[in-house]
Formats: sequence, C-alpha cells, structure tokens
Amino acid sequence: MALLHTRRLLATPRLAAAATRASSWWSHVEMGPPDPILGVTEAFKRDTNSKKMNLGVGAYRDDSGKPYVLNCVRKAEAMIASKKMDKEYLPIGGLADFTRASAELALGENSEVLKSGRYVTVQGISGTGSLRIGANFLQRFFKSSRDVYLPKPSWGNHTPIFRDAGLQLQAYRYYDPKTCSLDFSGAMDDISKIPEKSIILLHACAHNPTGVDPRQEQWKEMAALVKKRNLLVYFDMAYQGFASGDINRDAWAVRHFIDQDINVLISQSYAKNMGLYGERAGAFTIICSNAEEAKRVESQLKILIRPMYSNPPLNGARIASIILNTPDIRKEWLVEVKGMADRIISMRTQLVSNLKKEGSSHNWQHITDQIGMFCFTGLKPEQVERLIKEFSIYMTKDGRISVAGVTSGNVGYLAHAIHQVTK
Ligand code: LMR
Repeated sequence: MALLHTRRLLATPRLAAAATRASSWWSHVEMGPPDPILGVTEAFKRDTNSKKMNLGVGAYRDDSGKPYVLNCVRKAEAMIASKKMDKEYLPIGGLADFTRASAELALGENSEVLKSGRYVTVQGISGTGSLRIGANFLQRFFKSSRDVYLPKPSWGNHTPIFRDAGLQLQAYRYYDPKTCSLDFSGAMDDISKIPEKSIILLHACAHNPTGVDPRQEQWKEMAALVKKRNLLVYFDMAYQGFASGDINRDAWAVRHFIDQDINVLISQSYAKNMGLYGERAGAFTIICSNAEEAKRVESQLKILIRPMYSNPPLNGARIASIILNTPDIRKEWLVEVKGMADRIISMRTQLVSNLKKEGSSHNWQHITDQIGMFCFTGLKPEQVERLIKEFSIYMTKDGRISVAGVTSGNVGYLAHAIHQVTK
C-alpha cells in the first residue's frame, strides 16, 4: 500500500508534464511522406538482404558498387591541405575563381557573353540551391508571369523548388511512354501554346528522370520556337560531361540557345560530374542584355542570398575551382568524367544483353537509347513494388533506375529480377 502511494506521488508530476506536452505548439503538424527520391535510400538502408541494390538516388558508384571519389578531387584536396588555406567567409556571391570558371564551363571559353561581361554567375548550394536562387529571383523580378513550364515528367524536386519560391507550375509534353522516347511533336505543340513571356524549364542534357534528350536538330527547332513565343528559358544543367563524357557536347543546347540571342538562366551542379555530392557546389547564371544590367542583377542576387544563408560554403567550391583552373588537374578530370559516363553506357548495354540472356522478349532498346545517369525503364508501379519486396532492388516508383548504381557484379541479378516481374 505504502509502495503504491509512493508510486502515485512520483507519477503525478510526470502526468502533469505529459499534460503540458499535450498542448504542444505543433499538434496540428501532420506526418509528411518520405521524399520520393531520398526516401528510397532510407528504405534501402533498412533492408538486410546482402543482394540489395539502391538504384534510387542518382549517385555514381564504381564497378564494385562503392562511392567514387575522383582522383582529381583528391589532388585538389591535397593542395588545399598543403597550402594551409584559411576558412574565412566567402563573399555573398561566392568564390570568384569558381564562378568565373563555372560560367566558362557552361558557355565555352570563346563565348561572346564572357567577353562582353553581360552575365552574372553566383555560387549556389549545388544544383538544388542554385535552382532555388533562380526561382526566388524570378518570383521577385520576373513581372510578366508566375508560370513555370516543366517537361512532363521532370525531376521530382523541380516542383517544390519553384512552388516554394511562390511560382506556379505548368507542364508541357516531353516523354512518350508508348515508345519510351521523346514526344517531340507533343512538346512542340504544347510549347507553341505557352503564353508569351512565361518561363520554360529545359534540361540541358541527360534529362532526369527519363534519360531522353532532344537531338541537335530538335533543339534547333525548340530554340526557334521559344524565341518566337518570347519565353524565358531556364536551363537546369546538372550533368555536364556526365551524359556523353564530353563537356562541350553536353553544353551544346545551352550554347546554341545563347547563339540565337536567347538570354537564358542556367543552374549548374558539380555533384555528379565531379562527384562532389555532399560538398554542395553549384552555380547560377543569368545572361543579361549588357554588362551594366548584369551589375544591377548581381546586386539583387546578393540581396536575395544574404538572408537565405549569408554566403555559400567554401570547401566544395575551392575543390571545383582548383580542378577547373589547374590545367593538368582539369585534364585528369575530363578523363575521369568520361570514364564515369562510359561505365554507365556499358552498364546499359550489359543490362540489355543480360535481359536477352534471361529470355526476355520485350524490346529494351530504350535502355541503350537513353543517356546519362538514369534509365526510365517503363516498369509499372506494381512491378517496381515487386522488385523492392522480392529482390531488394530499390528504385523510384516511376520506374527510374540510376544506372550509375549498376555494376558488372550485380547487372545479372538486376536483369533476372526485371525479367521475373515483366514476363
Ligand atoms: C536524383 O535525381 O536522384 C539526384 O538528382 C539526387 C537528388 O537530389 O534528387
């Protein structure tokens, strides 16, 4: 009895505390869904199957399935360490050697835009952060429209980036699920109907999630059309060098549009082409009409960035800057980026030949036709579900696989599993 009494006494303050807790500020906050891409990694990590594969997030793996740190990155890091560099704040717009080299990488060294100085490039927090600076700038200064037209489908994060910046999302046809390839006439038809002076987002190369890019002739037609419609073009260039293995070839569309006098916006990321995922190195560029306009735009970009994160992180930009600006390290990078692109291309071929070996009678040609990190397999949500449940092969629900996660060691297992769920 005495014991019970003591317990009651002890329990009372706890109950009182619980009562206080129940009237929390956040009781109305509902549990949100996991991120459609990064949530896949969380589920993968929980799986104990030794054969498990994570083909969700686009992160490059070497042929033994390990994260790959480029040799050029190791060299740049060694340089930084040996010089005992300081850790001072960067300017609001970022590291100047990095932003200049990023603009040059995107536009090409002989670009008239670079020579005339009619552009501004600021450092961004990888691709997402750079896109977000652009989205916020558009929200504040693009007065003719609130509408951003995305290809259907587009990278899952594009919608929340623009929506959270206060813009409205619209779509144009891009991918034809029947052929697993570009719906060029659908895209042209939709783009021709976009109200003038709206914003259109284009993937510069290695379209995410479909791996389907327009051919150069098709880009030319698109450029002529967006010019005619007077649309503001925003290029997301997250994979320069990663698609074909050639940085200039992958920037062809961006440079062509600029040659046609289209003053585009560009977001760049070094996550994939330098493997700097967690370093968050990226850049955002606006091409202006003249250098004086660029100065004004730059001043406003700084005003926008300062209250968001004050100034960008130093380390990744330093690494990328050393790689871009040191000729022999840059040369090594170009070889390494081509090596990554080539390994992905060879995995596509191996996947198709393994599917044939398994006896699959489907036409898998789109796997080798598509380009870049991702393959839009055409697998249905229930087939994806089975791959996850029965084979521990993880991917996004839309059937996108990161080919960068396939290796010569697991391509056979993947082909077998795909055949089992598609036969
Ligand atoms: C992807 O699409 O998997 C990558 O771009 C990583 C990300 O942030 O979503």
